[in-house]
Amino acid sequence: MTSTAPQIVSARPRMTAEIMARTGLDEARLARLVDGFYAKVRRDPVLGPIFEARIADWGPHLARMKDFWSSVALMTGRYHGAPVPAHLDLPVDWPEFERWLALFRETAFETCPPDGARHLIERAERIARSLNMAIRNANPGQVPSLL
Ligand code: HEM
Repeated sequence: MTSTAPQIVSARPRMTAEIMARTGLDEARLARLVDGFYAKVRRDPVLGPIFEARIADWGPHLARMKDFWSSVALMTGRYHGAPVPAHLDLPVDWPEFERWLALFRETAFETCPPDGARHLIERAERIARSLNMAIRNANPGQVPSLL
Protein backbone atom coordinates (compact mmCIF):
# COMPACT_ATOMS: atom_id res chain seq x y z
CA MET A 1 0.00 0.00 0.00
CA THR A 2 1.27 3.44 -0.87
CA SER A 3 1.24 6.00 1.97
CA THR A 4 -0.64 9.23 1.25
CA ALA A 5 0.67 11.01 4.39
CA PRO A 6 2.32 14.33 3.48
CA GLN A 7 6.07 14.19 3.71
CA ILE A 8 7.97 16.98 5.38
CA VAL A 9 11.15 17.34 3.39
CA SER A 10 13.65 20.02 4.39
CA ALA A 11 15.25 22.07 1.63
CA ARG A 12 18.22 22.68 3.94
CA PRO A 13 20.53 19.81 2.90
CA ARG A 14 20.12 20.82 -0.74
CA MET A 15 20.86 24.49 0.05
CA THR A 16 23.90 23.49 2.13
CA ALA A 17 25.22 21.30 -0.69
CA GLU A 18 24.69 24.11 -3.21
CA ILE A 19 26.53 26.66 -1.01
CA MET A 20 29.39 24.21 -0.42
CA ALA A 21 29.77 23.64 -4.16
CA ARG A 22 29.63 27.37 -4.93
CA THR A 23 31.97 28.60 -2.17
CA GLY A 24 34.32 25.67 -1.51
CA LEU A 25 33.40 25.91 2.19
CA ASP A 26 32.74 22.91 4.42
CA GLU A 27 32.70 22.14 8.15
CA ALA A 28 36.43 21.33 8.25
CA ARG A 29 37.37 24.69 6.68
CA LEU A 30 35.03 26.56 9.02
CA ALA A 31 36.64 24.79 11.99
CA ARG A 32 40.09 25.92 10.77
CA LEU A 33 38.77 29.46 10.27
CA VAL A 34 37.35 29.63 13.80
CA ASP A 35 40.44 28.13 15.46
CA GLY A 36 42.78 30.40 13.47
CA PHE A 37 40.69 33.51 13.99
CA TYR A 38 40.41 33.17 17.78
CA ALA A 39 44.11 32.32 18.07
CA LYS A 40 44.75 35.77 16.50
CA VAL A 41 42.07 37.44 18.61
CA ARG A 42 43.66 36.11 21.81
CA ARG A 43 47.07 37.52 20.79
CA ASP A 44 45.61 40.90 19.77
CA PRO A 45 46.50 43.69 22.22
CA VAL A 46 43.07 45.36 21.89
CA LEU A 47 40.67 42.41 21.52
CA GLY A 48 42.59 39.79 23.52
CA PRO A 49 41.94 41.30 26.98
CA ILE A 50 38.22 41.88 26.20
CA PHE A 51 37.74 38.20 25.39
CA GLU A 52 40.03 36.86 28.14
CA ALA A 53 38.05 38.84 30.76
CA ARG A 54 34.88 36.94 29.80
CA ILE A 55 35.88 33.53 28.52
CA ALA A 56 37.37 31.19 31.11
CA ASP A 57 37.03 28.00 29.08
CA TRP A 58 37.71 28.41 25.35
CA GLY A 59 36.57 24.87 24.39
CA PRO A 60 32.81 25.57 24.58
CA HIS A 61 33.22 29.02 22.97
CA LEU A 62 35.07 27.61 19.97
CA ALA A 63 32.51 24.80 19.60
CA ARG A 64 29.66 27.35 19.73
CA MET A 65 31.37 29.55 17.12
CA LYS A 66 31.82 26.56 14.78
CA ASP A 67 28.05 25.89 15.09
CA PHE A 68 27.39 29.59 14.50
CA TRP A 69 29.45 29.78 11.30
CA SER A 70 28.03 26.49 10.07
CA SER A 71 24.53 27.98 10.46
CA VAL A 72 25.39 31.40 9.03
CA ALA A 73 27.58 30.32 6.12
CA LEU A 74 26.17 26.89 5.22
CA MET A 75 22.59 27.27 6.53
CA THR A 76 22.81 24.01 8.50
CA GLY A 77 20.76 25.27 11.48
CA ARG A 78 23.37 24.00 13.95
CA TYR A 79 23.47 27.17 16.10
CA HIS A 80 20.65 27.92 18.53
CA GLY A 81 22.08 30.76 20.63
CA ALA A 82 21.47 34.48 20.94
CA PRO A 83 24.44 36.63 19.86
CA VAL A 84 23.00 40.05 20.73
CA PRO A 85 22.71 39.74 24.56
CA ALA A 86 26.26 38.30 24.70
CA HIS A 87 27.61 41.60 23.33
CA LEU A 88 25.47 44.30 24.95
CA ASP A 89 27.75 44.92 27.95
CA LEU A 90 31.06 44.68 26.12
CA PRO A 91 33.38 47.71 26.15
CA VAL A 92 33.37 47.99 22.37
CA ASP A 93 32.58 50.61 19.75
CA TRP A 94 32.94 50.57 15.96
CA PRO A 95 36.81 50.71 16.02
CA GLU A 96 36.89 47.41 17.96
CA PHE A 97 34.50 45.88 15.42
CA GLU A 98 36.80 47.13 12.63
CA ARG A 99 39.71 45.40 14.35
CA TRP A 100 37.63 42.20 14.72
CA LEU A 101 36.74 42.37 11.00
CA ALA A 102 40.35 43.01 9.94
CA LEU A 103 41.47 39.80 11.72
CA PHE A 104 38.47 37.91 10.37
CA ARG A 105 39.14 38.97 6.74
CA GLU A 106 42.81 38.03 7.05
CA THR A 107 41.99 34.59 8.51
CA ALA A 108 39.20 33.94 6.00
CA PHE A 109 41.59 34.40 3.05
CA GLU A 110 44.25 32.29 4.78
CA THR A 111 41.95 29.34 5.46
CA CYS A 112 39.34 29.37 2.65
CA PRO A 113 39.15 29.64 -1.14
CA PRO A 114 38.55 33.26 -2.31
CA ASP A 115 34.82 32.74 -3.06
CA GLY A 116 34.36 31.15 0.37
CA ALA A 117 36.28 33.93 2.10
CA ARG A 118 34.12 36.57 0.39
CA HIS A 119 30.93 34.69 1.36
CA LEU A 120 32.04 34.65 5.03
CA ILE A 121 33.29 38.25 5.11
CA GLU A 122 30.06 39.64 3.64
CA ARG A 123 28.09 37.94 6.42
CA ALA A 124 30.54 38.93 9.17
CA GLU A 125 30.38 42.59 8.08
CA ARG A 126 26.58 42.56 8.12
CA ILE A 127 26.40 40.95 11.57
CA ALA A 128 29.11 43.27 12.97
CA ARG A 129 27.10 46.32 11.85
CA SER A 130 23.92 44.97 13.42
CA LEU A 131 25.67 44.01 16.71
CA ASN A 132 27.22 47.47 16.89
CA MET A 133 23.79 49.03 16.30
CA ALA A 134 22.25 46.88 19.06
CA ILE A 135 25.02 47.91 21.48
CA ARG A 136 24.57 51.61 20.62
CA ASN A 137 20.78 51.32 21.09
CA ALA A 138 21.22 49.57 24.45
CA ASN A 139 23.63 52.27 25.66
CA PRO A 140 22.09 55.52 24.41
CA GLY A 141 24.17 57.58 26.87
CA GLN A 142 27.25 56.78 24.80
CA VAL A 143 25.82 58.36 21.65
CA PRO A 144 26.97 61.96 21.29
CA SER A 145 24.03 64.32 21.81
CA LEU A 146 22.95 66.34 18.80
CA LEU A 147 21.41 69.05 21.00
C1 HEM B 1 34.64 43.80 18.87
C2 HEM B 1 33.99 42.75 18.45
C3 HEM B 1 33.55 41.58 19.29
C4 HEM B 1 33.86 41.26 20.58
C5 HEM B 1 34.80 41.97 21.54
C6 HEM B 1 33.15 40.03 20.89
C7 HEM B 1 33.21 39.36 22.09
C8 HEM B 1 32.49 38.24 22.43
C9 HEM B 1 32.56 37.58 23.72
C10 HEM B 1 33.42 38.03 24.90
C11 HEM B 1 31.71 36.54 23.65
C12 HEM B 1 31.43 35.51 24.78
C13 HEM B 1 30.28 35.96 25.60
C14 HEM B 1 30.03 35.00 26.74
O1 HEM B 1 30.08 33.76 26.52
O2 HEM B 1 29.77 35.49 27.83
C15 HEM B 1 31.12 36.52 22.34
C16 HEM B 1 30.20 35.59 21.91
C17 HEM B 1 29.75 35.51 20.62
N1 HEM B 1 30.09 36.34 19.56
FE1 HEM B 1 31.23 37.98 19.68
N2 HEM B 1 32.43 39.64 19.80
C18 HEM B 1 32.63 40.56 18.79
C19 HEM B 1 32.10 40.53 17.52
C20 HEM B 1 31.34 39.51 17.02
C21 HEM B 1 30.89 39.41 15.64
C22 HEM B 1 31.17 40.46 14.55
C23 HEM B 1 30.18 38.25 15.55
C24 HEM B 1 29.49 37.65 14.36
C25 HEM B 1 29.87 37.88 13.11
C26 HEM B 1 30.17 37.64 16.87
C27 HEM B 1 29.51 36.46 17.19
C28 HEM B 1 29.43 35.92 18.45
C29 HEM B 1 28.60 34.76 18.79
C30 HEM B 1 27.71 33.97 17.84
C31 HEM B 1 28.80 34.52 20.16
C32 HEM B 1 28.13 33.41 21.00
C33 HEM B 1 26.86 33.94 21.64
C34 HEM B 1 26.15 32.83 22.41
O3 HEM B 1 25.50 32.00 21.78
O4 HEM B 1 26.30 32.80 23.64
N3 HEM B 1 30.90 38.42 17.73
N4 HEM B 1 31.62 37.56 21.61
